[in-house]
Amino acid sequence: MLVGRENELSQLDRLLDGARAGSPVLALVEGPPGIGKSALVRSFTSRHRDVHAQIASGAPWESNHPWAVLEQLTHAPAPEADPIDAAHAYLDTIRGTTIIVVDDAHWSDIESLQSLSSMIRRAHQRPILMLWVIPDVLPDGIDDTTARILSSHRADTVHVRALTSGDVAQLALLRAGVDLSPWTAQRLHEHTLGSPRPVLQLLDEIPRAQWHRWQARFPAPAQHAAAVRRALTACSPETRASSKRRRSWAPDHRSLRPLRLPKSTTPHRCSTKHTRLVC
Ligand SMILES: Nc1ncnc2c1ncn2[C@@H]1O[C@H](COP(=O)(O)OP(=O)(O)O)[C@@H](O)[C@H]1O
Ligand SMILES: [Mg+2]
Repeated sequence: MLVGRENELSQLDRLLDGARAGSPVLALVEGPPGIGKSALVRSFTSRHRDVHAQIASGAPWESNHPWAVLEQLTHAPAPEADPIDAAHAYLDTIRGTTIIVVDDAHWSDIESLQSLSSMIRRAHQRPILMLWVIPDVLPDGIDDTTARILSSHRADTVHVRALTSGDVAQLALLRAGVDLSPWTAQRLHEHTLGSPRPVLQLLDEIPRAQWHRWQARFPAPAQHAAAVRRALTACSPETRASSKRRRSWAPDHRSLRPLRLPKSTTPHRCSTKHTRLVC
């Protein structure tokens, strides 16, 4: 059960209406990790049962495998073709109004992204809505070509926003049966930056009885704290010391704002992939 998201769902509905009316479109669905991009798109496709949905997802270990994503969409082996030929071949298989979803599209192989991008430009009035789901900040390690293809489709972007504190209260009630006071809901909203994943993690980790006598601060969800510890283990002692001084790392830190670690110049250089942690 999805809470909030009326705006995002109506934006997606408008894009689908446009596609049905003869304007095929490729849109990005963008937001920070854990904000609910995948859940939004799942809910959107399940609300339109009359429409075909074809769903694939990118994965870091598949991103160098040509056609990994297109294979998932076509249920066929790799097409052994160039991206435009593959685009035509895929278009030929599509019947009726279709939503094509590539979740975690930033981890897609380049051939599939090129082909899907070419396909939408050749879809001429076909009722096709294509959604590429990506984080608002691309992680390190994403290929430059991939980043360029993604940003060439920024014209239509659905931004998945933070939940309101009212949404957080509703989420707690629906998913955990916890009836938060408006004050606690507001504090939880600030602490998690309105991101459903840490809200759900904390609801899971904190015993129900405690929610009604909760005081000033919440802990970080266990997974977040563990990720911070792993990142710091990979850093130099100087970086660890400096982060500790800035109190930006403690597992019970009050806010889940992205952790920014200074880049170290020591032999134990902290990998840049650890310089930004979000839950
Ligand atoms: N609007 C929402 N209402 C209820 N639960 C949600 C909502 N958005 C996300 N969730 C839940 O929060 C978690 C993280 O969502 P997910 O879609 O995986 O995030 P993302 O794809 O942005 O990383 C999932 O367990 C999901 O079911
Ligand atoms: Mg996701």
